[in-house]
Amino acid sequence: MRLPGLTDPHVHVRDLQQSHKEDWFSATAAALAGGVTTILAMPNTQPPLVDEVALTQYEVAARARAACDYGIYFGAGPGNVGAAAGLASRSVGLKLYLDATFGDLKMSGLDALVAHCAAWPKDRPLVAHAEEQQTAAVILAAHLAGRSVHVCHVARESEIALIRSARERGLAVTCEVCPHHLFLIEGARPARQFEVVAKNARGWSGAYAEVRPRLQTQADVDALWTNLDVIDCFATDHAPHTITEKESTAPPPGFPGLETALPLWLTAVHAGLLDLDDVIARMHAGPRRIFNLPEQPATWVDLDAEATWQPIGAEQHTRAAWTPFEGWALRGRVTAVTLRGERVYDSGQILAQPGFGHNVVG
Ligand code: DOR
Ligand code: ZN
Ligand code: ZN
Repeated sequence: MRLPGLTDPHVHVRDLQQSHKEDWFSATAAALAGGVTTILAMPNTQPPLVDEVALTQYEVAARARAACDYGIYFGAGPGNVGAAAGLASRSVGLKLYLDATFGDLKMSGLDALVAHCAAWPKDRPLVAHAEEQQTAAVILAAHLAGRSVHVCHVARESEIALIRSARERGLAVTCEVCPHHLFLIEGARPARQFEVVAKNARGWSGAYAEVRPRLQTQADVDALWTNLDVIDCFATDHAPHTITEKESTAPPPGFPGLETALPLWLTAVHAGLLDLDDVIARMHAGPRRIFNLPEQPATWVDLDAEATWQPIGAEQHTRAAWTPFEGWALRGRVTAVTLRGERVYDSGQILAQPGFGHNVVG
């Protein structure tokens, strides 16, 4: 079976100073192994991507090392409203962190939120980590500024209900969900829909189950499945941290996800929870529309849709050598990827050279 090239609009790459977790090559290698030919990279990096110097450093690093196509988000802060807007043409979008998560980019207070909503160009994507009340705050602030907003990693019943009601009133709100919020509940236990698939799961728990937004209840998972029609994109929030870091006294939140996302969605297709067209709409057409992404000519993903396999963390291309889905019996596997006419992935091997990737805004 063949799919078009997929886009993951939410990836944490970690180059430059946290490249022991991931760099542009390992992140894009993981993407290709998961059938993803474009990644959009988040700005909660070290150094944080909140000024032109850092943006230039990341552009240079990506140009040298990325194996698939990519875009780079700029990070909003209280003091960079004008600078961000001035660099909009070099960024795939502006990311607002309205809740605490990994890194220091949480922006508090209403003033900075309103100022970024007003200054960031209306035809460029604005994306937000905005949980619970912050979901309402960012939707209203964007609406009052006469612009759209994309809500990242929706995890709760209350949030998807709010987004549905905003959409029904014609507000320009789009959103994404991550596999972990539809396949796992608290403690990284399998959601009821997947207990059979996960019967031999290794069962990573404790700090390994920590992610932001947190894993929620079965009722939240059910609400996301029920409201798939208002979900525009499937994103991974691929957030690599090493096993040593997860086992430390201050474990960071986040899961790697690039190499398991498409197989999980295909497993859900097999279980009758969605159609293949629903997956393509959310991993190809949806991100392309929302993030104004260029066509990738002669690009496709070959799959063995029937293959049953178990992900093994240590065999992944990401430097986070674990996965919360270790031992799950997934149905459907990427066999090869062709990007702009070149075979870039084949049977576990990355064939693209570092630097093969193009910047989608470049
Ligand atoms: O769990 C998370 N980890 N959530 C985020 O929002 C950030 C991410 C990271 O960068 O590790
Ligand atoms: Zn986030
Ligand atoms: Zn994230």
